Amino acid sequence: MAEAKKGNQQTVTLLDNESGKKYDLPVIPGSTGPKVIDVRRLYGDTGYFTYDPGFTSTGSCESAITYIDGDEGILLYRGYRIQDLAEHSDYMETCYLLLNGDLPNTEQKTKFVHDVTYHTMLQEQINSFYSGFRRDSHPMAVMCGVVGGLAAFYHDSLDITNARHREIASYRLIAKMPTIAAQAYKYSVGQPFVYPQNDLGFAENFLHMMFATPAEKYKVSPTMAKAMDRILILHADHEQNASTSTVRLAGSSGANPFACIAAGIASLWGPAHGGANEAVLDMLNQIGDKKNINEYIKKAKDKDDSFRLMGFGHRVYKNFDPRAKVMQQTCHEVLGELGIKNEPLLELAMELERIALEDDYFVERKLYPNVDFYSGIIFRAMGIPTSMFTALFAVARTVGWISQWNEMIEDPQMKIGRPRQLYTGATERDYVPEAKRKAK
Ligand code: CMC
Repeated sequence: MAEAKKGNQQTVTLLDNESGKKYDLPVIPGSTGPKVIDVRRLYGDTGYFTYDPGFTSTGSCESAITYIDGDEGILLYRGYRIQDLAEHSDYMETCYLLLNGDLPNTEQKTKFVHDVTYHTMLQEQINSFYSGFRRDSHPMAVMCGVVGGLAAFYHDSLDITNARHREIASYRLIAKMPTIAAQAYKYSVGQPFVYPQNDLGFAENFLHMMFATPAEKYKVSPTMAKAMDRILILHADHEQNASTSTVRLAGSSGANPFACIAAGIASLWGPAHGGANEAVLDMLNQIGDKKNINEYIKKAKDKDDSFRLMGFGHRVYKNFDPRAKVMQQTCHEVLGELGIKNEPLLELAMELERIALEDDYFVERKLYPNVDFYSGIIFRAMGIPTSMFTALFAVARTVGWISQWNEMIEDPQMKIGRPRQLYTGATERDYVPEAKRKAK
């Protein structure tokens, strides 16, 4: 491929060495980051599709929400550095930023917090959904079901062409997700649901619904609430990852937002994505002791062994995950403020990190701890059960999913997502009647 500039339009020339034909493909710059080659007309002009399993070189949409520079370890929400938001902002303000593009002034923030907060309660009949699940159901299974089911209750916010409907659906999803997740936990331990309290902050309210019981007063620790708020900020959006792309793809057919977010939750559940925080804790428990670390590092490097170091590696970050740095610091703060000393799992995690980062296999492949490596340890210190870790990720990511969904619906170029394939199956053949089929 050769690069050229036609007038002001940069192009890349594709040479088909079979036919000798040349095709000019336009190059489009973003506001920052790599330019993209526009292949929208490629099939029509050349008869070829591109082939990119896992979308490692494919931009699926135009977006102005989140920017990642994986080589430099940069993550920006609407241009703001994640470290600054984690230090100075709060989750509600970050939600406003992701949804609307700018930080709110005081009046806008007050209204937004009010509007979202007054959607925290669930329609009472939704509560009876839960009793259809086994008590030992994974909370993510419950979340997929209950969130998808919201579409059956909120008929007044399903018209995706109506901006007001989209706004109400967005507020409902952000506000109700903590209630749904906390109730999944309460159901699993056989305790009554604790209703939301709208005089509490977002993170505080979630922790209250998780840990309070109707039998006695419960005061949420400000340290825990602050740490939880920060964790929510760090997980709020992450560009076109698997679950976000799932939400966009589901939404591209015109499906309602509740169904789309349920699809995102399903995608997040996998251990290569949001399920990694739970998998990190399982892995640390499996390793059990510092003396076993080398054995597990060996397993992680063995191509014949399916074991991977969970919480290590990232498709985009090849230097460090900026969220992991903030998370590591938060982890120490939380353990310190909660007076948790000599936490064996944390010590094991630190030692594992140290050994892996000095190992050529991990260094050469640029495998660094990601956000999930530390979040699990903080959640554990807070008393949150392992099975709830990914549900918490879903609570935080809902604003990212819904912001991206809104952006897609408002995009005049929106089309139903419909990838093509490289077909390698049987070519056309005649049907063989059963009596004439050969024994295998
Ligand atoms: N342990 C051991 N080897 C690994 C690991 C790991 N955690 N991650 C990647 N590798 C190796 C992999 O075997 C391959 O080696 P080789 O080149 O010799 O074949 C090389 O590194 C590149 O790996 P890849 O699978 O091609 O990389 P990817 O970009 O497709 O996968 C990943 C990224 C996150 C799925 C992967 O690193 C992984 O499975 N990590 C563990 C799960 C995890 O922590 N996921 C959370 C991601 S961050 C939160 C989120 O976004 O949800």
